[in-house]
Formats: sequence, structure tokens, C-alpha cells
Amino acid sequence: MKVLVVGGAGYIGSLMCRRLSDAGHQPVVLDDLSTGNKKALHCDIPFYEGDLGDQLLLKSIFNKETIELVMHFAAKIQVGESVEKPDLYYENNVAKVLRLLNSMLENNVKRFIFSSTAAVYGQPQYLPVDENHPTKPINPYGASKRMVEIILQDYEHAFGLNSIVLRYFNAAGASLDGTTGEAQRVKQNLIPIVLENVEKERTSQIFGTDWDTDDGTCIRDYIHIEDIVAAHLKALEHLSKNEGFDIFNLGTSEGLSVKQIVDLVSQISGKEVKSVAAPRRPGDPGKLVASSQKAYDILGWQPCHSDHETIIRSAYNWHFNRRY
Ligand code: UFG
Repeated sequence: MKVLVVGGAGYIGSLMCRRLSDAGHQPVVLDDLSTGNKKALHCDIPFYEGDLGDQLLLKSIFNKETIELVMHFAAKIQVGESVEKPDLYYENNVAKVLRLLNSMLENNVKRFIFSSTAAVYGQPQYLPVDENHPTKPINPYGASKRMVEIILQDYEHAFGLNSIVLRYFNAAGASLDGTTGEAQRVKQNLIPIVLENVEKERTSQIFGTDWDTDDGTCIRDYIHIEDIVAAHLKALEHLSKNEGFDIFNLGTSEGLSVKQIVDLVSQISGKEVKSVAAPRRPGDPGKLVASSQKAYDILGWQPCHSDHETIIRSAYNWHFNRRY
């Protein structure tokens, strides 16, 4: 199947392209290279540099390539930035996606897989969080993702646009063959931050050591990007046989604490990892883990590479041997 991968030069999108090709599909990439990198892509993948909300460009892509399904990885994803610049988040993550969906419909492309996030749930009311948990996002990033989910539900009902929403918990790790990984210049998430601190011999901050968890630090559900990409392939298979709209969590239902991550990095690197207790970060829940039972029951997906060792080791290998 020919698949338009929007944001295909980024952290997860670039791995998606590799695994689509491995599975016999044909990825076509649209990316504005604001955070992505062309070096992440095989040179034989058709690449369009541009904006996902540019309807003229979309029209020309849909005219030239016989796209059957679109995957979206091109969101702005920083919670803090979204609070400071909500306009940027609603424009990029909602308005432009709306234009993309309208272009798809105009060009009779009716299958869509959307990368969403655990941030749509807000503060967890029970654990593990399943798809029926109330959605009460507490920042514009989470709200922007939830808005698109609602749009997709309505577009399925009104226009027959078939879509699957995948709500990622904490995406982590790097490709197992070491070819792609997290490549942002300014690190935003815990594991890349700790790895960079190890490299630069800096001290990592632990935000909150008085949470109601075994070691007092926050627990998150880390899911390997190879598993996330595998879920997209399952979603693609599902959409090639079924119509409709559905939502799935992607997590492991197990958590790792901040302190466990710091200890694992130390163990795997054989280096001293300096850390210091810092105040709680506003908006952080103490514990967030997913139930992904629905993805198992309906898509037949389960995580295979999200054990702690594989996540940290692949991230470590990428960080210290990255190609771009
Ligand atoms: N943390 C530290 N020190 C740091 C950075 C992070 O202690 O220097 C802690 C945070 O307080 C949190 C945990 O490490 O407890 C993970 O923090 P991240 O910033 O890596 O990730 P979040 O759980 O805050 O959020 C991530 C994504 C969101 C997504 C969410 C879904 O960044 O986009 O997972 O679960 F919505």
C-alpha cells in the first residue's frame, strides 16, 4: 500500500518509513524539516519538503502518488511550549490537520492513522488508564490532540473517513539497528536528557522525590518506538479490512520511576550518573500507566521491545553513536 507519512523525517516517522518498506509498503514522505532530518530517510523514498497545511502541495502529492492511507507524525509535542504558545499548537496540531483531512477527502483518500497522546487524559483518575478514562487535558498540547480526535470521529460519521487514533504513552528508545533515534538539539524528555547529562558530565535533576511511589519519584509507562511503529502496521492492516473510527492506547501497563531510569543508565553505561532532587514539576501526575488490552484484543498488538533494558540500551547506543 502507498502511504503518505506526514512528519516522516522525524523521530518516529522515519522509523515508520523503514518498517513500512520492510513490510512491502511504499512510504511517501511530507515533512517541513522543522525538527526532522532528511538523513533519517532512505534516498529512494519519495520526499516532499513542505507544510502539512499547504493544500496546493497536498493536491499535487495526491495527484502524483496514488496514496491509499495517511499517517500523521508531524505534531508539535512540547507541553511547556504549548502553554506559552497555544496559538502555535492550535495552528499546527489542529488547523493544519483539518486542512490535511479536507484535502484527503477532496482526493478520495479515506484512511488515516493519527498519533495521539496520553496527555489527552489529564490527571489520571484511575490506573491503569484505559480508553474509557475521561479526557480532560490540562495543557494546550493535550487539548490540541483531543480536538483532532473529536474531528476524526465526526468526519467518520459525516464523510466516511476511516481512522485509527493511537494514544502513545511515553515514547522512548531508538531503532534496534541503530539507524534512527531521537535527534532534537535541545532534549525534551527524561531519557535523552539523562543521556546528554552523562555525556557532558552534568547532573540530572529529579523532579519530585516525595511522590506516593516506592522510591518517591514519578512513574511513567515507557513504550519503545519499534513497538509504536508495529502498532501502526497493525492499524494499517485493520483499516484495510474494516471501516470506522477507533482509539487505542499504546503502553505496557508497567511503569518505571525516574530513579530507576537514572540507575539503569548508570548500569548500562558503566558511568557515574549524577542526580539531584529538585522540586516537583507543575502538572506532573505521580504515576501514569496504560492499559493496552484493547489494542491486544482488536489489533492483535502487544509490546515486544519495551522491556527496560532494550529501551535504555537502544537509546544509549543511539545517543553515543548517532549518525545525524
Ligand atoms: N523528569 C525529571 N527530570 C528531567 C526531565 C523529566 O525528573 O530532567 C521527570 C518528569 O517529571 C516525569 C518523567 O521524568 O516524571 C518523564 O518526563 P518527560 O518530560 O520525559 O515525559 P512526560 O511524562 O512529562 O510526558 C511525555 C511526553 C508528552 C506525552 C506524555 C504522555 O513528553 O508529550 O509523555 O504520557 F504527552
